[in-house]
Amino acid sequence: MKFSMDCELTMSKKLEGINIELLLNKSFDLLNKGAPPGAGASIKKSRVSGDKVFLTIESGRFVRPHDAVFRLKNFLSQHLGKEHHIGVKEINASHYEIEFELDKEPLKDFSLTFQTIPLLKEHMRSMDFKEKTCHMHMINLSEEFLKNNYVDRMISLIIDKINAQHYEGKAEHWELMWASPEKKNAWNKDPTVEMEKANWIMHRGRGQWIFGPMATRILKTFESIVMEELVTPAGFSEMVFPKAETWDIWKKSGHAKSIYGEIYYLCQPKTRDKEYWEDVIDTYKITGEVPLHLIKDKIKEPIGGITYAQCPAFWPFLDGRTIADESLPLKVFDRSGTSMRYESGGIHGIERVDEFHRIELVWSGYPEQVREVRKKIVDCYKHIFNDILDLEWRMAWVTPWFMAQEGLVGVKDESEKRDIGTIDFESYLPYRGTRKESEWLEFQNASNNGDKYTKGFNVKSQKGTELWSGCTGIGMERWLATFTAQKGLDMEKWPKEFLKRFGEIPTEIKFL
Ligand code: SER
Ligand code: ZN
Repeated sequence: MKFSMDCELTMSKKLEGINIELLLNKSFDLLNKGAPPGAGASIKKSRVSGDKVFLTIESGRFVRPHDAVFRLKNFLSQHLGKEHHIGVKEINASHYEIEFELDKEPLKDFSLTFQTIPLLKEHMRSMDFKEKTCHMHMINLSEEFLKNNYVDRMISLIIDKINAQHYEGKAEHWELMWASPEKKNAWNKDPTVEMEKANWIMHRGRGQWIFGPMATRILKTFESIVMEELVTPAGFSEMVFPKAETWDIWKKSGHAKSIYGEIYYLCQPKTRDKEYWEDVIDTYKITGEVPLHLIKDKIKEPIGGITYAQCPAFWPFLDGRTIADESLPLKVFDRSGTSMRYESGGIHGIERVDEFHRIELVWSGYPEQVREVRKKIVDCYKHIFNDILDLEWRMAWVTPWFMAQEGLVGVKDESEKRDIGTIDFESYLPYRGTRKESEWLEFQNASNNGDKYTKGFNVKSQKGTELWSGCTGIGMERWLATFTAQKGLDMEKWPKEFLKRFGEIPTEIKFL
């Protein structure tokens, strides 16, 4: 790594009669602190003119110039402050040249798009790749830009983007863990189409469905199975998680790194003052159309979006706190509302919806406790899918959901032990084709999230040792898609254990 920065320090007064060179010569130790001997930053050139000190600072990996310059700022302020009452008012870097080695050669050059993002547009003079070296030339960087470590983050981002190019096209990690025996399927029709015909469900556009009494009864039966066979025996307490997820949550959960194209954004009005909205109201009353073009300017920027992964909205409850040992493992669940993901408008069946209902269980504890809870949960699922729903399904070890949602592929290092990471539960959908060739449906997952969330939300254990967490999301629409694809709509063919819990057939709504 090579860094070279030309910068100017604007002082609060002219530096007449002060020997800056002599002073700067004394900064050697300061610019090498924390680096191997002699490997820190060095001042290659210095010049004083009026109230400005011009410096060229160079370094290798250690004490990079954007760090060194602040060490110098303090140093100069200290030395000049006492005697001469002079301080450093402002720092600006006119040129910053950076050269660093990459792990891998870029497969595609992204430098043009990278340079045009608004934050960088004014500052990037060039960015080129030569084999495994990246060279950047930046200009006119403010004190804030330097101080906030944007430079180091840009370097990490460039390396990440190149690594991502190498992942691209590679499938997500997938390793079979267990598979049920093949089951005899009731039919091979697409249940969405058949349920629509039977008025069990209705599509409202945008991946949103109305579930009629019959479909709802199936969903509610699933829910009561989950309560009886999983939530109660495993000892989870119900909570209500908010369904509006604000940016602070997504910054800590990692979602802010990736999900922008899938968010249902949430905006508040600029004011609830009726007069402010009068033109909108009047326009609507005259035209009968909601004037979206007017509304667009009367709402604030989004505060975040509708819940996406469901569990992140729980974590502020633990944020910055120390959990008492007697509360561990902590086990809670939420079934209080929908999650939403923008699935890009295409028409999909109930297995892929924008607005979906999920029961989300979250647990946290010492690593061993977190492992044990997941094991118990997987056992409960096996019992439900094998003995009650009689499904054809399998389990696979996959890229952890929190990595996938941050735009990453692969597995955590612990995957060999199949410890931290996600198990996907997949079902065979006969209407999609053969068992071998068709895509199976992920109808739920169960994860050990390691310290991802406890770290992100700064949660501590009473013993002061590592705290982990896990979660499992039970997608009601996906259970419905699985069950009806395998078992059909004819109740005679449904498993007895399921029917036992189904209760009376609800009254259908008939249309003429
Ligand atoms: N939070 C997890 C996910 O989004 C489980 O629901 O996949
Ligand atoms: Zn979760």
